[in-house]
Amino acid sequence: MCTPTPHNGAKKGDIAKTVLMSGDPLRAKYIAEKYFEDVVQYNTIRGMYGYTGRYKGVRVSVQGHGMGIPSIGIYTYELYNFYDVKNIIRIGSAGALDENLKIGDIVVGIGASTNSNYGKQYKLEGTLSHIASYSILKELTSTADDLNIQLNVGNILSEDVFYGDLDTLRNWARMGILAVEMEAAGLYMNAAAAGKNALCMVTISDCPFTGEAASAEFRQTKFNDMMKIALETAIK
Ligand code: ADE
Repeated sequence: MCTPTPHNGAKKGDIAKTVLMSGDPLRAKYIAEKYFEDVVQYNTIRGMYGYTGRYKGVRVSVQGHGMGIPSIGIYTYELYNFYDVKNIIRIGSAGALDENLKIGDIVVGIGASTNSNYGKQYKLEGTLSHIASYSILKELTSTADDLNIQLNVGNILSEDVFYGDLDTLRNWARMGILAVEMEAAGLYMNAAAAGKNALCMVTISDCPFTGEAASAEFRQTKFNDMMKIALETAIK
């Protein structure tokens, strides 16, 4: 496949080997404007902004991926397979399933369970474990230690529905799932299929069981902690 693609206006070489991705493209814009030097915007197609710049002198990219596995599936497939991207770190939000988690806590998905059929494409006779890359996980946890920011590392759930059934979520919680989001499993599958690296880190923005949700201001402050961990990891 040639570049640009139908979804990404970048040419080969425009994108760094490590890309931070958020569901909301305006978060990508925020990161590029707040943290990068020498920023070049490489994508505006469908408003899914993508930027490459330098963080502490190292070339890093940041891009939106939209909502749900089909959307992150398209963007990450193209980054891994057409742009030679090696590492993708998703920084997103999630609902708390574990009762010990509070709004604003950071969760790292060492594994991503899912109710999606995305994996059917690989024609596997069994169930693939969708896991984060140890190389990124190792750097990221030591970065968080250095920054004195606490992480909760475990299994998360990538659901196909945002307004899902609460009893179903309780069943997942009983299996030790920490939090629910909508993309990590698709990211991990694409990374596995391409032989590349991926990790998903999320900030708890709400709790489906209690209806509690973070204010926009609180979300922004807590999101900055996660961005710092991701950026420092990206340049290691
Ligand atoms: N992302 C943030 N909160 C979520 C939730 N409760 N369910 C699915 N995805 C989410």
